[in-house]
Amino acid sequence: MLTMFPELRSQIAIENIASLPTPVESLSFSEHAWIKRDDLTHEEYGGNKIRKLEFIVADAIRKNAKRIITVGAIGTNHGVATAMVCQQFGLECIVYLFDQPLKATVTQNLRLMQAYGARLIYKGSLFKAMLAYYSSPYRLQSGSYFLFAGGSNLYGTLGFVNAACELQLQIEQGDCPPPSAIVCAVGSGATLAGLAYGCQLVGLEADVIGVRVAPKKLGPIPACTPGTVYQLMMEAWRFLENHCHKAIPRPAAATLLDDYYGDGYGVATEKGLQALKRFKAMGIALEQTYTAKAAAAFLDQLERNRGPVLFWDTYNSRDMTARYSNIAPGDLPRNLPESIRDATTGHSGGAR
Ligand SMILES: Cc1ncc(COP(=O)(O)O)c(C=O)c1O
Repeated sequence: MLTMFPELRSQIAIENIASLPTPVESLSFSEHAWIKRDDLTHEEYGGNKIRKLEFIVADAIRKNAKRIITVGAIGTNHGVATAMVCQQFGLECIVYLFDQPLKATVTQNLRLMQAYGARLIYKGSLFKAMLAYYSSPYRLQSGSYFLFAGGSNLYGTLGFVNAACELQLQIEQGDCPPPSAIVCAVGSGATLAGLAYGCQLVGLEADVIGVRVAPKKLGPIPACTPGTVYQLMMEAWRFLENHCHKAIPRPAAATLLDDYYGDGYGVATEKGLQALKRFKAMGIALEQTYTAKAAAAFLDQLERNRGPVLFWDTYNSRDMTARYSNIAPGDLPRNLPESIRDATTGHSGGAR
């Protein structure tokens, strides 16, 4: 991205957190099937959040932050990535947590956040967690950097504008053909917003298709909608216009599919489970909440689309067993309900 916008060099410090570029590989589903391996964005814990954190942590450090305060479901991947990176940079990490359906990946993430030294504050319902986040006593303390669920702020979005620039370079180098469509999972929105706007900026004419896996609203707050995604794109546009002192194209709206969501956030769908199995047979590990649903849409696009289709894999694939197995249920916050502690004990294996 800094090659395209050299003016940003002095204005947006990027801490080198991620291992980039991530590979692009063909998939044997068909000659048109490709994957972007963002499951490998970091040596220790990959996934899409790492790209966002490269820009977010740089912003936090520039603002003299001592701590990052965020919010998410008990199995939040964003919470794990943020806790890990905070530990790396000597920042405190506080996560307000709300419930989601319990499964192995969820309890493992809970243990990982604890292992990375995050202060976990369990609130039960989504409403209570949001209330606690917005009325947090840390708001009165200097050095507090508030980061909304999923890390989807301006800087998270810029992380994915950067990702589109990376892909364009890989295409120019002949690593993969220009895709006619790119498919990714959408929760808090910055992955889709940054990718779609970034593709537009680098002149990549792919149809960037987001697959909604999270509710349209979090309590009274709009969450996963075309409007929230577009708002992030507009923030990125304004930032680039202000900092680059030249005309930058306004973003075009991105595509957000509703059809793969099923019965709720974290609730598996039949199509998602089938897609998960097909990827597993190729040695690619997905999970039910995000990537299985996006993979189901990707497989449908492959059937419909005549050109190359790229699946943007957003889920960490590094083996974290050694990290989370040090954390026993007793190490978790005291106010966690018995049901979650029991599930944590029951989920001590590596099943997804
Ligand atoms: C594995 C995974 N994929 C996709 C997403 C969605 O990304 P975004 O929140 O940028 O829409 C998330 C967000 O939590 C995630 O954890």
